[in-house]
Amino acid sequence: MLIAGNWKMNTDRQRAVSLARDVLEHVGDSDSDVLVAICPPFVNLEAVSSVVSGSAVRLGAQNVHHAESGAFTGEVSVPMLQGVGCHYAIVGHSERRQYFCETDETVNEKVKACVDSRLVPIVCVGESLSEREENKQEEVVTRQVRKALSGVDLPDAASLVVAYEPVWAIGTGRTATPEQAQEVHALIRGLLVQSFGETIGKAINILYGGSMNPGNAEELLAQTDVDGGLIGGASLKPDQFAAIVESARNQAAIN
Ligand code: 13P
Repeated sequence: MLIAGNWKMNTDRQRAVSLARDVLEHVGDSDSDVLVAICPPFVNLEAVSSVVSGSAVRLGAQNVHHAESGAFTGEVSVPMLQGVGCHYAIVGHSERRQYFCETDETVNEKVKACVDSRLVPIVCVGESLSEREENKQEEVVTRQVRKALSGVDLPDAASLVVAYEPVWAIGTGRTATPEQAQEVHALIRGLLVQSFGETIGKAINILYGGSMNPGNAEELLAQTDVDGGLIGGASLKPDQFAAIVESARNQAAIN
């Protein structure tokens, strides 16, 4: 299991450092069954890295460019992220698709750049509200997963993470029901098994994201194919984030 906090465009340097310290304090020692990661804004990665380095809390970025270096003003590459201690990069978040023109093709470039260099991409997929209302979630998520992972082969695929984030559930307080989440997670699991075989397909963590909080985490995390969470708002509140991590630990102990 993996619980990852996506801080989005929140926290100045001071707040990032104090939040990282609070997370460390609340989440405590390592638990090999539940990995924990926090993803601050680019400019705070280095400061947060010095707080979490040597601890069980891993560092992630919220985006990455596919090229190693070059004339790409404003962008940050995989080696740059690894240089400040990143283990993960969120790729293809719906906010990036919606506001920053990211497409299935650019997401695929980024995923390939990450896995080639062993930076673990947290690949986000999920349907919009109108697509859900038209019952198109399976079609949309299937397309997004297939395109994002096109050209990714074994053994690299083993280090992928996929996050199902229905756009209508992000920041809205309207969570997918456990059944709705499980339905799409099972679909994603099937696609992963089809592409990478039973062993790897079943080992890849599929996270749920979208208004996950201490009140709904336990039920969501109890679903067969829900292997963790990508947490937005609640990741800015250390006690709430820690409560979600605790639910994951309880669930991992049951499994
Ligand atoms: P919220 O938890 O705030 O709904 O955000 C989810 C998300 O987008 C995480 O990447």
